Amino acid sequence: MTKSGHPDGPNESRAQTEALETLTVNRRRLLAGTVGMVGALMMRSVARSEEAAMPVVPDDPTRVPGAAPTAYGQRSPFEQAVRVPRSWWASLTPLQDSQGMLTPSALHFERHHNGVPVIHPTRHRLMIHGLVERPWSFTLDDLKRFPSVSRLAFIECSGNSAIEWRAPTGKTVQQTHGLTSTSEWTGVALKTLLGELGVKPEASWVLAEGSDAAAMTRSLPLASLMEEALICYAQNGEPLRPEQGYPLRLLVPGWEGNTCIKWLRRLKLGTAPFMTREETSQYTDLMPDGTARQFTMVMEAKSVITSPSGGQRVQPGWIEINGLAWSGRGRIAQVEVSTDGGRSWQEAVLQDPVLPKCHTRFRLPWRWNGTDVILQSRCRDETGYRQPTRAELVSVRGVNSIYHYNAIQSWRIAADGQVTNVHA
Ligand code: CO
Repeated sequence: MTKSGHPDGPNESRAQTEALETLTVNRRRLLAGTVGMVGALMMRSVARSEEAAMPVVPDDPTRVPGAAPTAYGQRSPFEQAVRVPRSWWASLTPLQDSQGMLTPSALHFERHHNGVPVIHPTRHRLMIHGLVERPWSFTLDDLKRFPSVSRLAFIECSGNSAIEWRAPTGKTVQQTHGLTSTSEWTGVALKTLLGELGVKPEASWVLAEGSDAAAMTRSLPLASLMEEALICYAQNGEPLRPEQGYPLRLLVPGWEGNTCIKWLRRLKLGTAPFMTREETSQYTDLMPDGTARQFTMVMEAKSVITSPSGGQRVQPGWIEINGLAWSGRGRIAQVEVSTDGGRSWQEAVLQDPVLPKCHTRFRLPWRWNGTDVILQSRCRDETGYRQPTRAELVSVRGVNSIYHYNAIQSWRIAADGQVTNVHA
């Protein structure tokens, strides 16, 4: 490929040009037949965004031998659900396309503060210091020698639904609620590591720091971390994805996403919060009286109907209403659905598994008669906490907050079947 022939024109860097040339040469080699059918199919999916290539579909798949095994699996090219970038620092999970309660790793929402770092696993260290008897710097292999723990948990960015505080801004459920996902997380319990190092009695707070270009930091109360916090190296059965913190992240189940520090490199034990940027100028909640709530860690119970949802169009007749509910305090105990703007409620079925601090799928069969209606869901968790109406939430918190918007979501179905986001 010549420089002038590249669509980006003459301003591209030399490195970019070389990368593109390498890709082109590799593709030619593959297509030349040395790798054959599998390689061609693989490159076809790599090239999809530029060429929109699709496999040839036989009239009868039982009459044609299928493709060979592949080294690392790809989904069907007919499936198109994707994360949608909100900006260079976040992308949203396509909840409208989700099934069950797990999020595929490739569709887990992203939020980072200065990009996804490239970290070599054997060079990475986790240092634990401050008020411990024996400060230590762990390699990844050191950490994998400790007893491993797996659990499922949702992670929700505390800024999920932030665009809904003032007006019904999100057009789809991906835009209104897509900063939450559920995965299986595997690692070592923080209390196991701290038991090994010895915690000094005066220690009460922990500074967690990432090795990204933001050196993301949060202060977290030690007693809470001792209950459930994990130092994770795996997600859904394989090493963490780079955008999820490869090779190490903190998981604090039920707490706002940014406490689950990604690319974790340091934990420092102290006697008080460290008052970093991310808990003073950021991640606080401005109340109507001008004071700010600080260290609001727990993500309170929330639910949303994912189908039918904004941007979809439905036909009169039987429709299964379904969606997701979750609570940072434990299990979802009940989800109710209203098809008349909150005047009456019906109990939805909770689909197993119903696990603490995980997305829970709910469903309710419903017959739409073709009139203008408003659909809502509301949930209650096992502590008795009820998801608030928008009016209840705004009456307490005002509309100056960015974080922790968990009000009941309303979807209007117009008589023509078009679904839109409304504040009801
Ligand atoms: Co908060």
